[in-house]
Amino acid sequence: MSNIILIGAQWGDEGKGKIIDLLAEKSDFIVRYQGGNNAGHTVKFADKKFVLHVIPSGILHPGKKCVIGNGVVVDPEALSDEIAMLKKRGVSIAGRLFISEQAHLIMPYHKLIDEYLERVKGKGKIGTTKKGIGPCYADKAARLGIRIVDLMNDRVFRDRLKLVLSEKNAILKKIFREKALSFSKIYKTYSRFRSFFKPLICNTSLLLDAAYRKKKRVLFEGAQGTLLDVDYGTYPYVTSSNASAGGAITGSGVSPARIDRVIGVVKAYTTRVGEGPFPTEFPPDLMDHVRTKGEEFGSTTGRPRRCGWFDAVIARHSVLVNGLSQLAVMKLDVLDELPEIKICVAYRYRGKIYKYFTPDIEVLEHGTPVYETHPGWRCSVEKIRKFSALPKNAKRYLKRLEELLDTKVTIVSVGSHRSQTIFV
Ligand code: GDP
Ligand code: IMO
Ligand code: MG
Repeated sequence: MSNIILIGAQWGDEGKGKIIDLLAEKSDFIVRYQGGNNAGHTVKFADKKFVLHVIPSGILHPGKKCVIGNGVVVDPEALSDEIAMLKKRGVSIAGRLFISEQAHLIMPYHKLIDEYLERVKGKGKIGTTKKGIGPCYADKAARLGIRIVDLMNDRVFRDRLKLVLSEKNAILKKIFREKALSFSKIYKTYSRFRSFFKPLICNTSLLLDAAYRKKKRVLFEGAQGTLLDVDYGTYPYVTSSNASAGGAITGSGVSPARIDRVIGVVKAYTTRVGEGPFPTEFPPDLMDHVRTKGEEFGSTTGRPRRCGWFDAVIARHSVLVNGLSQLAVMKLDVLDELPEIKICVAYRYRGKIYKYFTPDIEVLEHGTPVYETHPGWRCSVEKIRKFSALPKNAKRYLKRLEELLDTKVTIVSVGSHRSQTIFV
């Protein structure tokens, strides 16, 4: 095991948290590099269940060091709540959590603008998590962001907040017809976080460089999924960061030359939460069955997730843009009872067949999936721990996924707990 990037290869919630938790055991550092507390990564062991939003899932392994890189957007309140939750449950972050001083801060106006933008978009809304993620990244690109390092210097913070808030208040009042925000209230609330951040922040690229030189193993924990990536996803129904492997480089300050492998995580079917095209979405009866069996409710917002058949077109796209050499296939157990299982191998739109992913939103929204149908296995796989012991039809299904994606399946997950994992 060496330096690994682990990414979601669908629309998020693939089960990254579970795999990070397993791989963390053999890592020294676990690094989040993009997104913010829009993520929800679930880890289950013994009778415990943890949902991590912005702190790397590796934190649950005592002694492992965790990094929040420069590419992450940080809501100080959400972060301090998460730390408090961990502390309460016996997980200490002391000396183990390092935050990039260059990470941008999610400010109160980001959350409001996220909400108001969704409101004015009406039917065209994205279905965001309303955590302020999009507006925060927009400000970063517009050079109107406030970084943690800016907050740490009282004079810089005061000047920056004054400048930025005058622009935000004009938007709040004139565009959204809402109340302006008080400078002194934000200034006071955020200034209080200075002492909170002080022991946690550092130059994390320097830290990771030192780790590399000492031959430490680094695991990069992707959030969201490739189809939610702002460049490679189903734009505009995406998040505002690079959830694909490239994000690990720009979001951590680690050279691409130091990355050894990229592992993708997929569900044995597909889900997405929020709006946007979803070619293989189930009809209502299958939707109910899979949503109930797979407990497909958002770990951040609690919203019911939309479910559908495995879409090999989007997964192939993920293999390509991430350079995946390995796949973890999650939630195979959820398909246990189905008499037949479909895989989408192409889309048909206006007489044309699309075998490869297209960014054309019209094709994605109105194209019809071309399916192959495979027989189900109709028995429980939850207690199986060896690939060879899986039912014949389950093995065939996984082999077919390997063929279609031209990638090895190295992990198969048959339940939410640590132990319910098959290493192939
Ligand atoms: P992440 O955002 O990619 O980390 O995924 P989430 O944690 O949001 O959602 C994955 C959900 O599936 C969580 O509730 C996990 O506990 C659960 N899960 C993970 N692997 C399996 C599996 O193999 N089978 C079942 N039934 N549940 C799983
Ligand atoms: P994890 O890391 C699934 C979705 C939202 C919405 C879109 C934009 O748990 O896989 P945002 O708030 O980011 O501006 O919302 O992206 N989304 C996710 N969907 N899993 C996630 O994270 C997600 N993070 C954002 O539902 O459609
Ligand atoms: Mg999630």
